[in-house]
Amino acid sequence: MSDTVLNVQSLTAGYVPGLPILHDVNMRLGRGEIVAVIGPNGAGKSTLIKAIAGLVLVEEGTIMLGARNLVGIRPDEMAIFGIAYVPQTNNIFRTLTIRQNLMLAAKRSDGLVDDLIERMFTLFEILRDKQLDKGGKLSGGQRQMLAIAMALVAEPTLILMDEPTAGLAPKVAEEILALVQDIAEKGVSIIFVEQNVKAALRISNRTYILAEGRNQIDGSTQELMEGQVIKEIYLGGRRLETS
Ligand SMILES: Nc1ncnc2c1ncn2[C@@H]1O[C@H](COP(=O)(O)OP(=O)(O)OP(=O)(O)O)[C@@H](O)[C@H]1O
Ligand SMILES: [Mg+2]
Repeated sequence: MSDTVLNVQSLTAGYVPGLPILHDVNMRLGRGEIVAVIGPNGAGKSTLIKAIAGLVLVEEGTIMLGARNLVGIRPDEMAIFGIAYVPQTNNIFRTLTIRQNLMLAAKRSDGLVDDLIERMFTLFEILRDKQLDKGGKLSGGQRQMLAIAMALVAEPTLILMDEPTAGLAPKVAEEILALVQDIAEKGVSIIFVEQNVKAALRISNRTYILAEGRNQIDGSTQELMEGQVIKEIYLGGRRLETS
């Protein structure tokens, strides 16, 4: 088993004190691992990601990054701990240029910024071509690439991605998923929320199913594929896509 990078234990968290959305949630992430979070609409997937990113009120439980408990760490301090968060929506600045977006996301002002941005342009040539365009001019896939580049430019060890393929054409979604795999192969650990169950199972090492703010089942992707669980995910709300 790989080293544990992140260990979420008995997490109870939400937006209003005394009215938690997540109840007693547990989750583990190893180094270089890809963990997928799936579940119906309103299950608490985004809330879980936001709780790790320090954006949600934690009432009980711990979020251990190695030996450090992240509970109470402010969202703007997360970069110091190597954590980057790619939100589900509004994940770029539409009125800034692509280059300005990356400069902001690099969260540093030393001479390394240009090198880091150059590395992103090597990874995403399309962003180099459009670096002086406003973020709002990008297509859905390009916007998602910029959002991921904005996470990577801060050189994280853990990336939290909320539905990186939502609303994208299948071919573009595939490109993003391949990119997620490439990033993990370089040793970066990734937690991502995905509506497409097949895609989640295909690229993740392990998958967690959330429903009504609780763990339904977790296990290796192989175990889930062999079981009946995936076939039975009609837990209310939106039906999960399986193709
Ligand atoms: N800012 C907020 N304030 C109060 N309640 C919220 C807030 N954001 C989400 N919720 C509630 O928390 C619950 C879980 O929402 P969450 O966004 O985590 O679900 P999700 O699994 O990500 O759903 P989706 O598949 O639609 O993205 C829902 O009942 C939602 O209404
Ligand atoms: Mg969500």
